[in-house]
Amino acid sequence: MQITSTLSDTRAALRNRGRIVFVPTMGNLHDGHVSLMRQAREHGDTVVASIFVNRLQFGPNEDFDKYPRTFAADCAKLEAVGVAHLFAPTEADLYPEPQQYLVEPPEIQNLLEGRFRPGHFRGVATVVLKLFNVVQPHVAVFGKKDYQQLMILRAMTRQLALPIDIVGGETVRAGDGLALSSRNGYLTPEERAEAPRLNRVLTRIRDAVRGGDRDFARLEREALAELDRHGWKTDYVAVRRQADLREPSPDGGEALVALAASRLGQPRLIDNVEI
Ligand code: PAF
Repeated sequence: MQITSTLSDTRAALRNRGRIVFVPTMGNLHDGHVSLMRQAREHGDTVVASIFVNRLQFGPNEDFDKYPRTFAADCAKLEAVGVAHLFAPTEADLYPEPQQYLVEPPEIQNLLEGRFRPGHFRGVATVVLKLFNVVQPHVAVFGKKDYQQLMILRAMTRQLALPIDIVGGETVRAGDGLALSSRNGYLTPEERAEAPRLNRVLTRIRDAVRGGDRDFARLEREALAELDRHGWKTDYVAVRRQADLREPSPDGGEALVALAASRLGQPRLIDNVEI
């Protein structure tokens, strides 16, 4: 696997490499990322990953400095799954001057995750556009686990007419249903045993809606109450339209998704289940 850090080296290395499939990450890779890399291989000739912990998407209370940096282990995983190229810029490479031109996503950035992480999606969209401009991929893969991020980046790509196909990678789960995440590493053994409940309450909502129940507010309340009873501190449980994450219309007919974010001890877990 070839590794570059500067923008010019990366552009030069990726010239004439056929159809480039790009998987941006912040490192600290787990099997969910490895699965995205594997899915990426099906969409082109050269799989390119990036590792960059993006200061712009961290809020003042989110610890940018403590984000785990595991570069050597990450490289071994990328190599093993057949990634051809890793773009691993330093902050000085990607932000050589204060980043004053920012991508401002529309109102969707303030829903759900955005209510609890103001400015987060502006930071994500800005760095992803910049990474796209360096790597110039034909296809980019983002995990469905970060559903709102995927929606925002898909809309950005469409509205700015970027010639890139956005692919949503399926969420990888442990045997008990817990979505794989870097944050699972912070769970105590007791919390780890409790954590799959998040997926269970969402799956129950999915099954109820599939069975014809459209009292979304009640379903959300019931899920919230169950999480409360088991010690979770929940930011939201919401049934939304897949297309724009708005509330479902009363007449139905649209594809829905149930999403949740909740804190179990220290770690804040997110998950979603398409309906
Ligand atoms: O999902 C992530 O890891 C990050 O938000 C991304 C897309 C790499 C941008 O920093």
